[in-house]
Amino acid sequence: MRRKVIAGNWKMNMLPGEAIEMINELTPLVKDTKNEVILCVPYTDLFYALLTAQNTNIKIGAQNMHFEESGAYTGEVSGKMLKSINVEYVIIGHSERRQYFAETDETVNKKIKAAFKYDLKPIVCVGETLEQREAGKANEIITKQTELALEGLSNEQVENTIIAYEPIWAIGTGKTATSEDANNSIKEIRNKISEIYGEETASKVIIQYGGSVKSSNAKELFNMSDIDGGLVGGASLKAEEFSKIVNYDK
Ligand code: PGA
Repeated sequence: MRRKVIAGNWKMNMLPGEAIEMINELTPLVKDTKNEVILCVPYTDLFYALLTAQNTNIKIGAQNMHFEESGAYTGEVSGKMLKSINVEYVIIGHSERRQYFAETDETVNKKIKAAFKYDLKPIVCVGETLEQREAGKANEIITKQTELALEGLSNEQVENTIIAYEPIWAIGTGKTATSEDANNSIKEIRNKISEIYGEETASKVIIQYGGSVKSSNAKELFNMSDIDGGLVGGASLKAEEFSKIVNYDK
């Protein structure tokens, strides 16, 4: 049985004071869950979030990293740096980074490898645009993105990669994929992993759904056979709403 992993993606929101307040409010609300709880916060919040979440079941992640360890890359933060302050997770290849910051399947692959080098757990995003979906190309796109993202990884690394299937048209739009559609897309991704890495490895990979997840639709989505939790944007900014998503099974 795969565990459920519920990760918040704060994007470019929340000042340190707000981060501390949110985590303090969230802590008692999620302390009894058996689901894994992660908050992926802006770089400037990381240190505060890590301190505030100490001795709780809330894990902290970053939203991006560079694939090089150090050097002349002004404005970038490396996996080694994240690891040095005990960050545990890192989102890689979010569609907003692919769209606005020239992230490619190649840089995504390099970043995943660098994440493993520094013992960070990657949450890798894949997803199709509305245009691609309407052209009947969604499955082709998401399985290709998955294949290229995981290229050259060992089976053990693949098993420790979290994949977030996020149809781009569902992100921040209030439109959610139906639970059946989301589950089918995730099955396609799992089948692709099975083809390349074998069924046992594929059965262990956590694959989340992301895109307008909220407390009112979390239960239906997360109860589907292949959806192992969610990557939650807007609804992760408020402790109470996010706690209801984490506690969807209560
Ligand atoms: P959303 O964002 O929940 O606000 O749609 C999800 C994401 O982009 O990770």
